[in-house]
Amino acid sequence: MLKVDIKNICCIGAGYVGGPTMAVIADKCPDIKINVVDLNELRIASWNSNDLEDLPIYEPGLKEIINRVRNKNLFFSTDTERYISEADAIFISVNTPIKVSGLGAGQASNLCWVESCARQIARDAKGHTIVIEKSTLPVRTAEIIKEIIISSTNSSEGDSKTFSILSNPEFLAEGTAIDDLINPDRVLIGGDDNFAIQSLIEIYSRWVDRKKILSTNLWSSELSKLVANAFLAQRISSINSISALCEATGADISEVSRAVGLDQRIGSKFLNAGPGFGGSCFKKDILNLVYLCNFFGLKTVADFWEQVISINDWQQKRIYELIVHKLFGNIYGKKIVLLGFSFKANTNDTRESPSIQMSKYFLDEGANLTIHDPRVSRDQVSKELCNYRKKIGNFRGYWDFESDVYKSIENADGIIILTEWEEYSKLDWKKISNLVRKPGWVFDTRKIADKDSIKKTSLNYWSVGEG
Ligand code: UDX
Ligand code: UDX
Repeated sequence: MLKVDIKNICCIGAGYVGGPTMAVIADKCPDIKINVVDLNELRIASWNSNDLEDLPIYEPGLKEIINRVRNKNLFFSTDTERYISEADAIFISVNTPIKVSGLGAGQASNLCWVESCARQIARDAKGHTIVIEKSTLPVRTAEIIKEIIISSTNSSEGDSKTFSILSNPEFLAEGTAIDDLINPDRVLIGGDDNFAIQSLIEIYSRWVDRKKILSTNLWSSELSKLVANAFLAQRISSINSISALCEATGADISEVSRAVGLDQRIGSKFLNAGPGFGGSCFKKDILNLVYLCNFFGLKTVADFWEQVISINDWQQKRIYELIVHKLFGNIYGKKIVLLGFSFKANTNDTRESPSIQMSKYFLDEGANLTIHDPRVSRDQVSKELCNYRKKIGNFRGYWDFESDVYKSIENADGIIILTEWEEYSKLDWKKISNLVRKPGWVFDTRKIADKDSIKKTSLNYWSVGEG
């Protein structure tokens, strides 16, 4: 294979991964031209919007970088064919959701978009091209990409195209994506073509210490990404399982987390109890791991990892049941306010957000739900809840969206904090106690509200993991 000096990059997929990742590479490598392409015309139009508040993704620090590099060496376009043909390196950053039907439904990833990218690359690329898997993919997907590309190119006579396939999984977390990209714990590059690996190392090493850049074989790289996410999710399910025990025994989960996390072998991160993990990756990646284990006959291993998801679902269900119980076993027609709809703070992403399942539980009870979120729009809530309105007897539970937090709370019977947005830690509880219908309840699933202020009012208070 050839050593390629990467001067032109194409990234397919202008989403939460492709957009911020390419913005940072463009910022760090002004001599490299980067074209981010996407099928979705509206998304590309938002990335090109003059008003930086209209970018399709909210991520702290992103708009400042976009402002510096857009239309200098970073471009957003729908012209996939053209930019694939110009590229020395192509990142595949398309979405890979769980299959909803067919073989592996509910567990395996739907690879139709990855496959169509591979076919487009085989058709449009010129000369030697490095193809890089950026999306999290099931182990051995690189082999599929390789096979599609190689078989498609061989079929056209006189084709002088060559390809190297690398896996370069993303470890960025939403809300801190820019910082994670600028100061990564490690960069992982999997592949069997050392020249291609070196070419990619040369890009990252412009701002990442070489000691943090690991190269492995393809399968180790793909598997490491799934395992990293599974381990992180497992910590959350572990701490959430203990939060229930704390509530039963009178212990406090914050104190337990702190005491446990100070053991350096355990570490203090990812030990915050809450309403369960959300986001596009954890559930999907664990399901992929489970599918893989079952495929290779490792049922006990598959069952072990599946429990991480069971605990996550159970945590949401138990919090919902507890809330109904505290509101006299009945929330039919009562006003319930959900504070926070994104799956975590500092992002407008709602994929797999605990707020979605919580909303459905309350609507099933016939509650009158009001949703507030500082960054998620009414339209986005509407997409997630679709027409989820349950008719119970003559009553229909329904939801509404309110962008003013204090207005959302007027006449509420229960206020549930589901996302740890900073503004919810600064709420004026004295004012709120005069807005709610008595006896008003505050349920803090993130332990961020100012408990001392709440306790000075007539409001009732519950928080996760506090006995
Ligand atoms: C992520 C990751 O890449 C993946 O690792 C993770 O497993 C889930 O999804 P993300 O950037 O968060 O991707 O997804 P999303 O915001 O949905 O963006 C993907 C983009 O790819 C979309 O804008 C979609 O329009 C685009 N796309 C999809 C294409 O341009 N072409 C396709 O063929 C398919
Ligand atoms: C995750 C991984 O962290 C990242 O490395 C990978 O590339 C993509 O998946 P992300 O899903 O964006 O990132 O966010 P993350 O910060 O991991 O949070 C995931 C979920 O876990 C959120 O719902 C969050 O609220 C929850 N969480 C996180 C907790 O409930 N407690 C914690 O202590 C940490």
